[in-house]
Amino acid sequence: MKRILVTGGLGFIGSHTVVELQNEGFEVVIIDDLSNSKIEVLDNIEKITGIKPDFYQLDLRSKQNVQHFFNENTIDGIIHFAAFKAVGESVQKPLDYYENNIGSLVYLLQEMRDRNIDNFIFSSSCTVYGQADELPITENAPIKPAASPYGNTKQIGEEIIKDSCTAHNMNAISLRYFNPIGAHDSIKIGELPLGVPQNLIPYVTQTAAGIREQLSIFGDDYETPDGTAVRDYIHVVDLAKAHISALQRLLDKKNKQNFEFFNVGTGKGSSVLEIVNSFEKVTNQKLNYKIVARRAGDVTAAYADTTIANQELHWKTEKSLDDALLSAWKWQESQKG
Ligand code: WQD
Repeated sequence: MKRILVTGGLGFIGSHTVVELQNEGFEVVIIDDLSNSKIEVLDNIEKITGIKPDFYQLDLRSKQNVQHFFNENTIDGIIHFAAFKAVGESVQKPLDYYENNIGSLVYLLQEMRDRNIDNFIFSSSCTVYGQADELPITENAPIKPAASPYGNTKQIGEEIIKDSCTAHNMNAISLRYFNPIGAHDSIKIGELPLGVPQNLIPYVTQTAAGIREQLSIFGDDYETPDGTAVRDYIHVVDLAKAHISALQRLLDKKNKQNFEFFNVGTGKGSSVLEIVNSFEKVTNQKLNYKIVARRAGDVTAAYADTTIANQELHWKTEKSLDDALLSAWKWQESQKG
């Protein structure tokens, strides 16, 4: 049985990926520092799959911690989620973001180099493209100067991984996510934003739940059909399954270069107002919102061309936007009390 390390495995995308790994028969060990997740997620993963992953609460910013882990564990592959991910916060605290997102990546790659560990899946983001010149966005789209230190850590991270693969004959795949949303069908795991949600969907569900007074829609003067910005919202379970497909590609040595990257989205763009209307329809909840000024750093539109990911990963999305929005609402309701 292959043993896979999932860093950040108690987080939103990480926990859903752990469930899918276990469903596929992989043995999973999680490293998480609990800075943006809760230990209860570990038990909830076990409630879904019947298997409790091994767990280490470790801060990956310490090289000693990383070495200690690998002294104790034989690993066949790594899926690396652990990182700070708030775009706005990264502008206020760039050094925290570079120390954590880049530092921990380097320490992990050094252990892979020194112990001949192969098969690395990196959590990247469509944010590396900035405002793409053409839509939908293909993997050939140029990488634009990052709009935030967070986005820069994803761009720099990919470069570090590419150079490491070339120099040390390692194999890695970077998955460039669009906008992950929703929750597992069991409603036992989902998004757990700490504090005021930065992302749209948790803010929507918290507004519908009465936790937030009103949703602010950041701008309705974009060059889009209804003036609000367009994104590619992908169900988190579909996104999790893309990680399994990418890992299997490396384990089966089907990769064509030692560093590959794929856009992981639905291929469909939805505006903020379309999201609001769909949410109200599928949940029968009325959303209180107002239009306010644009948010700094937002792009007008971003949605994926999924051709390459579909072909090379033998993966495609199976869930609809309505499935994702309804699961997000059911998850929010399960958080009461
Ligand atoms: C979506 C749309 C907002 C909140 C970012 C990162 C990306 C990934 C996902 C980490 C935009 C609008 C939002 C609100 C709003 N992060 N919005 N009111 O900015 O596309 O992507 O988060 O992995 O890397 O770049 O996602 O959910 O913040 O915003 O109107 O209260 O919703 O303006 O158009 P974004 P988002």
